[in-house]
Amino acid sequence: MSTKLEPEGTYDGVPAYHFDNRLGGPVLSHQQRWDEIAGSHTGFRSTIASGYWVITEGQAVQEALQDWRRFSNKSVTALNPDPKFLWIPEMLDPPVHTIWRRLLGTDFSPKAIAAREPEVRQVAADMIDQLLERGEVDVLDEFARRFPTLIFMRLMGLPEQDLGIFLDWVHDLLHLTYAEDPEGVRQLSAMTAVSDYFAEQIALRREAPRDDLLSRVLTWQIDGEPISDYDMHAFCILMFQAGFDTVPISIGWALYHFATHPEQRTAIIEDPSLIAMGVEEILRVYSFVVPARKATVDTEIGGCPVKAGEMVMLPLAVSNRDPERFDNPLDVDLHREQSNHIAFGSGPHRCLGSHLARLELNVAVEEWHKRIPEYRLAPGQELEQHGNMYGIQSLRLRWVTA
Ligand code: HEM
Repeated sequence: MSTKLEPEGTYDGVPAYHFDNRLGGPVLSHQQRWDEIAGSHTGFRSTIASGYWVITEGQAVQEALQDWRRFSNKSVTALNPDPKFLWIPEMLDPPVHTIWRRLLGTDFSPKAIAAREPEVRQVAADMIDQLLERGEVDVLDEFARRFPTLIFMRLMGLPEQDLGIFLDWVHDLLHLTYAEDPEGVRQLSAMTAVSDYFAEQIALRREAPRDDLLSRVLTWQIDGEPISDYDMHAFCILMFQAGFDTVPISIGWALYHFATHPEQRTAIIEDPSLIAMGVEEILRVYSFVVPARKATVDTEIGGCPVKAGEMVMLPLAVSNRDPERFDNPLDVDLHREQSNHIAFGSGPHRCLGSHLARLELNVAVEEWHKRIPEYRLAPGQELEQHGNMYGIQSLRLRWVTA
């Protein structure tokens, strides 16, 4: 299995491994690898490239995410401590970060998102209705990726007819295997296309503002200064990355989970009020985001002697699947009293889109099961997950049509 750890001695007295989070593997292999390492380590050194620290103690991961003074967001990519690019708000530290979050808060508040529910539900229902007669589809391509992407485009104020090209870019940016794009040519070309696209959308709104999020952001002032095209672009690119892959991955895990746990599927169909906890538990158990931070000072975390300027990787799975934090941590428990996970992160950078994500996930699971209550994994597929963010690569479900 490609996710296997290769021991490489020690580094500053801490175990070192050839650990590469970018590689894919069989379904759930990444999460299980974290369980295994967290069972015997509080942290280790990855020897990939110039090296970075990996923290595997749940409490320490949360502590680092909350302590922005010691662990900065100037870089959030373990393999690249000195990025030449900026993503806003993700790569800002307080106090500028706090200003952006306050301004963005209105559009992503629980109230603003709740007002979108009828529209979100309609989009999901229409997309699933179109699949009913098919009897077997790759649910990631045909539903999980299309539904949140369309909602996100509406939220940003981007033209809906561009949905197809957006999905192609997301695919080329995030989902190409090494064999499909060995030189990274398609990935680079998608990155350039996304960048040019946002430059054009920003210019259009500078000329003629509309009633959309992008136009609103252009009217803001940060520290008394209007927002530059550079910052606007950094904001669009981050929103593109943050909003486009995470909900599809989560819908994929939810449908995988309920396909492989028919007794829980029956339970949510008989009592849809269990879906809300089911969604929280799926976010927790299938945790797929692995943030990283850059140390600002020489410090110690998870038993690792981190030097100023070094990167630390902070896998959320080790906190969300921590036996000291949760009873039966690996079980999706529809009746758990409180899920209390950190799948949306922790501290100042906790997910801006969490209310939208929760709404979309709940609606997706509800509307799917109203229409397609009986389904199973289509036979003859090997289920693999991506590296970096652990989403299922493709998931074919089969059901009997009416
Ligand atoms: C289930 C879906 C989602 C999950 C699991 C998720 C998870 C996360 C996590 C863990 C972070 C913190 C990263 C860090 O600490 O470095 C984050 C940040 C962020 N997310 Fe999400 N996210 C989801 C959906 C969304 C959506 C739908 C949007 C927007 C439409 C969004 C926008 C953002 C933004 C803007 C940030 C950066 C916040 C900041 O830096 O202050 N996310 N997300």
